[in-house]
Formats: sequence, structure tokens, C-alpha cells
Amino acid sequence: MKKGSAIASSNIAFVKYWGKRDTALNLPAAGSLSMTLSGLTTHTTVSFDRAPGDDELTLNGVRVGQGGLSKARAVLDAVRRVSDGGAGATVVSVNNFPTGAGLASSAAGLAALATAAADAASLSIDSATLSRWARLGSGSACRSIVSGFAVWNAGVAADGSDSFATQLVPPEHWPLRMLVAVVDERPKTEPSTAGMQRTAASSPYFGAWLNTVPADLHQASEAIVGRDFEKLADVAERSCLAMHAAMLTSQPSLLYFRPQTLMLLEELYQLRREGHPLFFTIDAGPNVKVVVPPGVDRSVESRLVELPYVRRLLRTSPGVGSHTTPIHLF
Ligand code: DP6
Repeated sequence: MKKGSAIASSNIAFVKYWGKRDTALNLPAAGSLSMTLSGLTTHTTVSFDRAPGDDELTLNGVRVGQGGLSKARAVLDAVRRVSDGGAGATVVSVNNFPTGAGLASSAAGLAALATAAADAASLSIDSATLSRWARLGSGSACRSIVSGFAVWNAGVAADGSDSFATQLVPPEHWPLRMLVAVVDERPKTEPSTAGMQRTAASSPYFGAWLNTVPADLHQASEAIVGRDFEKLADVAERSCLAMHAAMLTSQPSLLYFRPQTLMLLEELYQLRREGHPLFFTIDAGPNVKVVVPPGVDRSVESRLVELPYVRRLLRTSPGVGSHTTPIHLF
């Protein structure tokens, strides 16, 4: 029985994904754009060695229950459909970064799973297919298949065949630095899947938020290709805050910020007034990702480390997409 094994990294969106046109297939209501992160990885092994219907997933040494298994099963089923195999899978996954740090561990996890499962089934699959399979587990995971900067095209096909991520530019094109300021490590108040459904169903601003995306995608792509930091800063903060405006105006409201989140934003605005180039982005949680240009200026980093409410600071930069690994690494 062949074992498959893969590593994938987390990713953070500069133009956000929040809302679906198809919930079963995780087809987004609009496109999004992200950076795959170096060093913040999930290692996953898969073997199709169990009875049909009896998948088992262990994450960081803990057996995952039926709820958590359903996302993984969506990916495994896609692989089984193509490989003609009906066997259940044993999946062992380990994150090398803290869960609860707002680092989209599910994106890394489901991208690693798609890649490892294809490997276990001895399928040699192109990146678009892997991205579509990862998407079935969690939408944002489709972007972690890709190295560097990724664009997820929303697509229009009802079966999702044109909804996958492609590379805009490779990591070495623009070695931005991202500082992940963890201000609260508790699990998020509302999971993304349920949160975005609530926003779509109840926020009067949901349509307005979606309308911002095409122009933002265009501006962010241009900024990245042209290495224009201010242009990217402008669009990334705008996209993040427009998404949070739609979240906040959902009923009941989705408030992912904590007091420390806003204190940190005040500090970042102050640093910017002092002349430090930076921008922030925030996902469905309280932690803040701060992006600074490539180079040696560590002053933003030293200021953030000193803040009493910053519990830890993780450092990352553009990284590689999911890839298979030799089994002996595990
Ligand atoms: C706020 O990909 O976790 O991080 O497709 O339901 O699994 P599902 O949602 P998920 O949503 C991520 C939302 C976000 C923005 C982003 O990454 O684009």
C-alpha cells in the first residue's frame, strides 16, 4: 500500500474571499488574491488502507471527530472518484505553527491533504486540479497549492471546473516581510464557513462588498507585478476593512476584532505617520498581519515586539506551494 506525503503552507489574502456562490463546492462569489507563506506549514501523510467509508484523521496527535472530518472527506472523495479506489484513508497531519494564531491552518492542511492523497493514489495531477480538490475542503486552501502570489479566479461554471488558483508571480519576485502579531490565541468566535453564510444572508453591505472585488483584484495584481508597495497597501487595507464592514453589519453581528486588535491598528497608524512603510490585514479573527517592504529596516518589528498585548510575533515571507515529500521525513 503506497503512502503519500506532502507539505503545504498557509496563505494570507490581500484581496479577501468572503461569500460563496455554491456552498457544497466552495465556489466563491468573487475572486481573491493571496501570498503563500514561507515556513508556516502542515505536513500530511495519507494511505488508502481502511474499509470504505471509514476515513480517519489525526491532527497534531489528536483524532479529529466527524465534524472536522467532513472537509477532509470532500477532498478524499474527489481523489477516490478519479482513482477508482473506494478505500477509506488514514490521514496524519502535523502543523508546525500554532493553531489559533489566525493563520488559516485549514488552508495549509487541506492543500497538503489534496497533494498527499493524489500521491498516495499514484496520480500525477496538474496544479489546477490539485487546487480544485483543495478548494472542495476549504475555499482558501486552493491558493496554498501555488507558490508566491496566487489569484483565485471565481469562475462561472456550475461544476467549479474554472474555479482554481493560479500563480501571479513566484516568491522571489517580491520578498515582502509579514509579521503576524498574535494578540489572542483563543479559537475564533465564529468559523469562516458559517460566518460568510451569515454575512451573505443578512448584511445589507454584502452586495457592496462584492462589488469592490474586481477593481481591487486588478489594483492588487498591478501593485504586485510592479512591486508598488503603497499601491498594495492601499488596496489590501481597503479590501480587509470592506470585508469586516460586511461582517460587522451581519445579523447577528460578526465582530472578530478584540480591543487589542484596535490598539494595534492605532500603533500601526502612528508608525506610518512616523514614516515607516507598512500595511495590515486581518482575517476572521483578532490577530493582525503586518506587511513591510523587503530590506533591513527592523524598526517596525522591534516596536511590535515591545507591545505588552502582542503575545507573540511570527515572521514570514512569500513561500512555496504544496509539494510531495519523501515519506522518511515523517
Ligand atoms: C477571512 O477558506 O476558511 O480568511 O471556504 O468555508 O472553508 P471555507 O472558508 P475559508 O475562508 C477564509 C476567509 C478569510 C479570507 C481569505 O482567506 O480570503
